Amino acid sequence: MHQRVFTLLLLAGLISMSSQHFMGKNAEGFDLFKIDLDLDPKQRFLGPAQHYEDTIKSLISMYMQYVPSVVLDAFWAMDWIIKYYHPERYGEIQGMAEFAKIDTHLAVMMNYVYEFDSYCTSVIAKLNNGTIVHMRNLDFYFSNDTRNITYIGQYYKNGQHLYDAVMFAGIISPFTGYKDGKFAISLNQRDPSQNYLRLIQNVGMIFTGYKQSGWTIREALESCEDYACAVLKVSTDHHIAPSYMIVSGLKNNEGTIITRDRFSVANVRQISDQNWYLYQTNQDHYNGDCPIRCQHAKAAFEKVGRNATIDAIYQNVLQEWPNLNYMSIHSAQMSAALGLFQVEKIYAYDQTDPGDL
Ligand SMILES: *[C@@H]1O[C@H](CO)[C@@H](O)[C@H](O)[C@H]1NC(C)=O
Ligand SMILES: *[C@@H]1O[C@H](CO)[C@@H](O)[C@H](O)[C@H]1NC(C)=O
Ligand SMILES: *[C@@H]1O[C@H](CO)[C@@H](O)[C@H](O)[C@H]1NC(C)=O
Ligand SMILES: *[C@@H]1O[C@H](CO)[C@@H](O)[C@H](O)[C@H]1NC(C)=O
Repeated sequence: MHQRVFTLLLLAGLISMSSQHFMGKNAEGFDLFKIDLDLDPKQRFLGPAQHYEDTIKSLISMYMQYVPSVVLDAFWAMDWIIKYYHPERYGEIQGMAEFAKIDTHLAVMMNYVYEFDSYCTSVIAKLNNGTIVHMRNLDFYFSNDTRNITYIGQYYKNGQHLYDAVMFAGIISPFTGYKDGKFAISLNQRDPSQNYLRLIQNVGMIFTGYKQSGWTIREALESCEDYACAVLKVSTDHHIAPSYMIVSGLKNNEGTIITRDRFSVANVRQISDQNWYLYQTNQDHYNGDCPIRCQHAKAAFEKVGRNATIDAIYQNVLQEWPNLNYMSIHSAQMSAALGLFQVEKIYAYDQTDPGDL
């Protein structure tokens, strides 16, 4: 009886929640939402905004405690500048804020703050049969809560399924995107620090109209049909904050880690016949800065060896401490050639802080 009432309530909830946006759950238990780019920007994120309204609100209030008041004031006074430079993105955030019943200034700020502060491990490997695989762990503060607002966005344009991205409700830019049969991209934060000057620099970039790296990822997914186009796009756009862009393609040596400064490329590493794997955490490894998560990734690749399977790489490189840690939220396994886009929620068994952020 109780169960039946519960089922009815659940059904009623789902139906009122705009059935045209909610696409059910995937095999790994993630909610799938259709993000229809043919709609007015304000309508696009209606589904996830309503579905996760309560969790978005509680996360925002937790996060607010850490945002310096000077940053808050800047968003209150100047978010019209963002609207001026990026009307489409602003519209998406504004619509999302309305449906989730949160203040638009706060929603805009949240969309930017996430970008400065996400931690990760991304890897690309060329299997011994030539298949390119790309995997990532995403680590972030309040991992237990953030895990609960993670969903898969299935982006549509002209009625066609165009690409998929792992999304956090309330945030319109992805850190992980996949275009089936074409390419995949993941974003890692570069040299995260609590450095106040850096934060102010980032805020300065926001209010002079620069783009988020995540928006470039969406643009690449929307407009590019192949790896070369995606690599060019993420290498050339100007961004608010430095980053690592990890891009994988279909064949040959189509796998690269691009270290981005705000206006230019600082370093490029690519898969090659000598170098069958690449790994990136949150420091400039090419400069010899390789702390504990970087060291573990390298050691794990050496351990699984040249003939490693996808699962061996996933388990040994990504699902072991310290790359799996108390901040880890989800992982993704992607291969555009294999049609592989598998996202899972992940939980640390060892809560020890790796201490390298
Ligand atoms: C290469 O190996 C992967 C993983 O075992 C497999 O899924 C894929 O089909 C193989 N590709 C070819 C061309 O044999
Ligand atoms: C998340 O939840 C797990 C299991 O309930 C708990 O052990 C862990 O301490 C929590 N992590 C954080 C960062 O609060
Ligand atoms: C996340 O969702 C699960 C399942 O609904 C729930 O048990 C858990 O309490 C939630 N965690 C937080 C921190 O909200
Ligand atoms: C990988 O497999 C090939 C045969 O496919 C074998 O010749 C080679 O020794 C193996 N390499 C390693 C490191 O196991």
